[in-house]
Amino acid sequence: MSDLKLGDKAPNFDAETSEGKINFYDYLGDGWGILFSHPADYTPVCTTELGTAAKYKEKFAERNVKMMALSVDGVESHKGWIQDINETQNTNVNFPIIADEDKKISNLYGMIHPKADNTLTVRSVYVIAPDKTIKLMITYPASTGRNFDELLRVIDSLQLTAYQKVATPANWREGDDVVISPAVSNDEAKELFPKGFKEVKPYLRMTPQPEKK
Ligand code: BEZ
Repeated sequence: MSDLKLGDKAPNFDAETSEGKINFYDYLGDGWGILFSHPADYTPVCTTELGTAAKYKEKFAERNVKMMALSVDGVESHKGWIQDINETQNTNVNFPIIADEDKKISNLYGMIHPKADNTLTVRSVYVIAPDKTIKLMITYPASTGRNFDELLRVIDSLQLTAYQKVATPANWREGDDVVISPAVSNDEAKELFPKGFKEVKPYLRMTPQPEKK
């Protein structure tokens, strides 16, 4: 069982995919990445998820995020399933799906949770920064499809807080006020956040969202 944690380097791999053989790091290049696993081909929830992911490709691309999916079935199965996804979800799957038949990558990333299912992957999500460190890990059971608006929201937060000394509060969305990091003194905050800030408590200071760097 993999023991990956936030901040660890995302393991690199070579994979057979629906778009040919791909090296993960080469595919990501200098940008951000999102890797998500699907329990199996030709299953209903996964079909809706991959259709939705395809429709969101532009939104991820605007954030410099490349998508890659994984399922433990083979390339030919993926190709047939993609036709079904395109037909039923009215879209065009336009990113690679890894064919992880030997479960090498699923195991590398800890995507199989034996108490949930011994052979199929759960719905794992990994967001990977340009330096290839893991910035986010989320795990859903097979019975719950993911919310792709939430994934975009979290990426907006990750990309803001990676370069600014702020954090994002509960239910934050792009453009909302943010929290100033506790390590920043009030004097430093005056310089860093020229729009000003409100000190609700000494540990809770709000400021308008700064520009993303
Ligand atoms: C699905 O994608 O619909 C699914 C896959 C595995 C188990 C349950 C549901």
